[in-house]
Amino acid sequence: MMEPLLRVEHLAKYFRSNAGQVKAVDDVSFNLYPGETLALVGESGCGKSTLGRLVIRLLEPSKGKIFMDGVDLSGLKGRELRKMRSRMQMVFQDPFSSLDPHFTVGEIIAEPLRNAGVPKEEQQKQVLSLMERVGLPGEHYFRYPHQFSGGQRQRIGIARALATNPKLIVCDEPVSALDVSIQAQILNLLRKLQKESHLTFLFISHDLAVVRYISDRICVMFLGQLCEICPTQDAYEHPLHPYTRMLIDSAPDPDPDVSGENRMLLQGELPSPVNPPAGCRFCTRCPYATEECKTVRPEMKDYGNGRFCACHHPLA
Ligand SMILES: Nc1ncnc2c1ncn2[C@@H]1O[C@H](COP(=O)(O)OP(=O)(O)O)[C@@H](O)[C@H]1O
Ligand SMILES: [Mg+2]
Repeated sequence: MMEPLLRVEHLAKYFRSNAGQVKAVDDVSFNLYPGETLALVGESGCGKSTLGRLVIRLLEPSKGKIFMDGVDLSGLKGRELRKMRSRMQMVFQDPFSSLDPHFTVGEIIAEPLRNAGVPKEEQQKQVLSLMERVGLPGEHYFRYPHQFSGGQRQRIGIARALATNPKLIVCDEPVSALDVSIQAQILNLLRKLQKESHLTFLFISHDLAVVRYISDRICVMFLGQLCEICPTQDAYEHPLHPYTRMLIDSAPDPDPDVSGENRMLLQGELPSPVNPPAGCRFCTRCPYATEECKTVRPEMKDYGNGRFCACHHPLA
């Protein structure tokens, strides 16, 4: 059995809001293995971005632990923490707002190198090599972000994320803001870079077509908790959790093999994360919900072959 690169245990993040405490992430555990792409899927507001930010420690967890290469990140301080952090980077959805408009591309990509104390002459060399790796012409070194298209800006964001030679990259909806034709180019670039550098991706997306294309495994998230973890193909072909099935069947471009009348469509509103249902959080929207579902939180159970599901009435 391969050792995980990252082990997430009982992770939680609670925010204060006017309406009360928002349990954005609430007791989430999973492993991330070296070189894999693990997709994190779920409806808007279910806590994907919060979980992604927790994982690379842009946010402090309210509860729980994260281990990288077996090292407990919560125990690290100062130089050790900075070193570990440089091994984890993030690529954001909107490359425009995440790139400072006042700096040239060269300066933007060089920033993490500067922070790491790389000498100036060396910085330029490395930036040019990073630009080449992500498919940006070197002569664009002195251009500003607004002079680039959306796809090229995402290449800049990816180059900057690669600068510190990370092991793990959290990609938060990295192609959602791009035209479909450009999406494929960026996804293929990510795959190429993954192969070249043995990168591990936590790939956050609400787009199930993208997820099917890019990921090895899927984590399905609902209202701050995980419902199912499984190999990507299993999620599409025989999901265990009713929510996984409904999420896939409700996607705009569903599997053509599934005829219309057999589809299970998502219904009802997302319950409030301030006051989530007791028991299974999905119970108010689930056609199979029983009394037990309303009162007892289902545990994440191991169904073998890498399939895990938290449901009192799994589909298979
Ligand atoms: N800084 C914050 N303060 C208060 N609430 C937040 C904050 N960030 C996120 N939330 C809330 O946490 C929940 C999960 O948000 P988010 O992680 O952005 O979900 P997703 O990325 O799946 O759309 C939402 O209810 C959101 O309003
Ligand atoms: Mg988000």
